[in-house]
Amino acid sequence: MDTGVSPTKEGKIDNGCKEEENLKTSHESIEEKTDTNAASLVFSTGEEIGALAGCLAVFKKHKVNLSHIESRHSEKDKDSYDFLVNCDSHQQAPFNAMVDELRVHTTTLKILTQDVEGLGSVPWFPRKISELDRFPTQILSYGSELDSDHPGFTDSVYRARRKEFADIAFHYKHGDTIPRVTYTQEEIKTWTTIYDKLTALYPTHACREFNHIFPLLEENCGYRRDNIPQLEDVSKFVKDRSGFIIRPVAGLLSPRDFLSGLAFRVIHATQYIRHSSKPMYTPEPDVCHELIGHVPILADPAFAQFSQEIGLASLGAPDEYIQKLSTCYWFTLEFGLCRQEGELRAFGAGLLSSFGELQYCLSDKPVLKEFEPTKTAEQPYPITEFQPVYFIADSFEDAKDKIRAYADTIPRPFTVRYNPYTQSMEVIDNKNQLLNLTRTIKGDMNLLEDALRKVGGI
Ligand SMILES: [Fe+2]
Repeated sequence: MDTGVSPTKEGKIDNGCKEEENLKTSHESIEEKTDTNAASLVFSTGEEIGALAGCLAVFKKHKVNLSHIESRHSEKDKDSYDFLVNCDSHQQAPFNAMVDELRVHTTTLKILTQDVEGLGSVPWFPRKISELDRFPTQILSYGSELDSDHPGFTDSVYRARRKEFADIAFHYKHGDTIPRVTYTQEEIKTWTTIYDKLTALYPTHACREFNHIFPLLEENCGYRRDNIPQLEDVSKFVKDRSGFIIRPVAGLLSPRDFLSGLAFRVIHATQYIRHSSKPMYTPEPDVCHELIGHVPILADPAFAQFSQEIGLASLGAPDEYIQKLSTCYWFTLEFGLCRQEGELRAFGAGLLSSFGELQYCLSDKPVLKEFEPTKTAEQPYPITEFQPVYFIADSFEDAKDKIRAYADTIPRPFTVRYNPYTQSMEVIDNKNQLLNLTRTIKGDMNLLEDALRKVGGI
């Protein structure tokens, strides 16, 4: 399991008036040419009993169809609820009238996305790395709210602890130092159990790149059997090696949001640890999964590039392609295998953080297929049991090239390019931007020519 990508329905929660303005700007010209609107809204009704019924009546009155609704406790007021709604309307005017009337019945209302069929809808995506700050309020499940079958469900101390970690993530902003956590002896004991079992398997089961980085993390970031490393220290280390940084997250993000982070070389990572009663099992990603499973391989430049390519492909992609990219993500970053020196090795975080599945995946039990995004993207998979099928990548470079080629098949009216200097996403959809890109490439080519000359290559 991963922090970000799971087959859960994508929740497109947005916030702030600024985003609404952006949406209007980006879709105004499209809206004039079509008569079908799909939208995601989030609203709060306050504490008034029966308020939701009043809101639903507004949808019915204006003949706006509800395709999905979910609720959760309001972040601002624990006694009230926020409601996330996906809806669609065949005409613009009734939709606008519905929104106007709904504002009367709600204490807050935000239009998250308002996608319009026609020329091709372009869902909102972050243009600046700081815009990832909106995601903490958009998680699909709160880190402190546990399901009834969770090992820590009846443990009030554990639940309070999870709330502490959730609060850290909710309040984190890009550029902040990730707060350091003093882990308890019980938490460290859980970490030790996992650490000892997994590290015994790595020499024979993990890929070359992982085994190269892991000792460096032990030397530089406090990776020890009796110490849970701090996200801040690990983030700095990984940034120096591959440019990836860590953001704390409280729970599951939508696939679209999680993949957006990868486009900026940001991995969303949980900071809490699984419940001590079941050290070898967790129903959700925890700090062991993130730091032991994900981090080492993300510090490898080629793997970082591959990971970012999946993220870049997701920006503004239609929903059905987000699902396909999520599946590719699942079978690579989470459960990927590769072939090295004639042997199969694991590089996926879901494998490298699971003592049982790491052994199983290299046995003769699972079905093995070659990684090919068009086929991999269609492969069904379970999330609560060992994978029956794994995909093998020839190399991270090869996987990156394949994902790039796959990205070209995604219907988007633009190309995106990450600018690491401004940490922003350049949307290339006109001649001037192409000219600027050409100049940048020319500069890089001159640099390459000069370097080749100096090393005697030409
Ligand atoms: Fe993960």
